[in-house]
Amino acid sequence: MPAPNDQPLVEFRNVDLMIKGQEIIKDLSFTFGAGEFVCVIGPSGCGKTTTLRLIAGLARPTGGSVFYAGEPVKGPRPDVAVVFQDYGKALLPWRTAAGNIQLVLDTFKVPRSEHRARIDALLAKVGLAGKNDAYPAEMSGGMQQRLQIARCLAQQPRLLLMDEPFGALDAMTRQALQDEMQSIVADTGTTVFFVTHDLEEAAYLGDRVIGLLPHPGRLGVDLGSTLPRPRDQLTTRETPGFLQMRHTLFNFIRGAEQ
Ligand SMILES: Nc1ncnc2c1ncn2[C@@H]1O[C@H](COP(=O)(O)OP(=O)(O)OP(=O)(O)O)[C@@H](O)[C@H]1O
Ligand SMILES: [Mg+2]
Repeated sequence: MPAPNDQPLVEFRNVDLMIKGQEIIKDLSFTFGAGEFVCVIGPSGCGKTTTLRLIAGLARPTGGSVFYAGEPVKGPRPDVAVVFQDYGKALLPWRTAAGNIQLVLDTFKVPRSEHRARIDALLAKVGLAGKNDAYPAEMSGGMQQRLQIARCLAQQPRLLLMDEPFGALDAMTRQALQDEMQSIVADTGTTVFFVTHDLEEAAYLGDRVIGLLPHPGRLGVDLGSTLPRPRDQLTTRETPGFLQMRHTLFNFIRGAEQ
């Protein structure tokens, strides 16, 4: 028997998902542990979002099992938060930045007397210090995505599921947010499952990169990263380790799309 702290945080055991007679996911098995930053890549339609939804408890397997901390996933849970690509839809437009976060604090029954300090700290953590009274419509895309991340962190999740969270952002904002995620993970120890189309983003951020193959969605590669942390946008991307990971991922995608 493995010791309890060797138990994976998430385990897919021979997971199948059929929708209307179509195999979406086929015999998918992988695990990851607490504190890992796991990136997921694969061609469009290979099942990345579906895999994330299975972990979140928003979809159920039709075969096999998904486990969270050793228990079968039965539905959404308070210690698992989801950051979606579409920040525009994820935020409540009639609430300020502080108001959007406050909703989560209320849900988690944080005493009102602690709200101001918690909100200020969360906004500072994502680079939005002082933006308490701004409405989402007054914020840039990058700021809205930062707010969505702050709102998820208000939940103090053990696991953060992120579905192409920076896909709609320009390159500079994307890199800034990548580095903010790195420092948040370093500060909090949060486990991250991060879906991306961007192979360099996966190579830059991941402790692991899982590549899925399409039709049906199944495991293609599961690569450990040797890149040390903290990582740096300029120097890390120039190292042989980064270039080798990038090369392997490009070859994988090229093969997967043929
Ligand atoms: N509710 C559903 N009903 C029918 N088919 C579905 C449903 N959800 C997903 N699919 C199909 O499952 C497959 C995987 O979809 P999924 O959204 O997980 O892919 P993805 O890898 O996230 O793609 P993308 O990179 O485009 O976001 C696709 O072929 C999709 O059409
Ligand atoms: Mg998707």
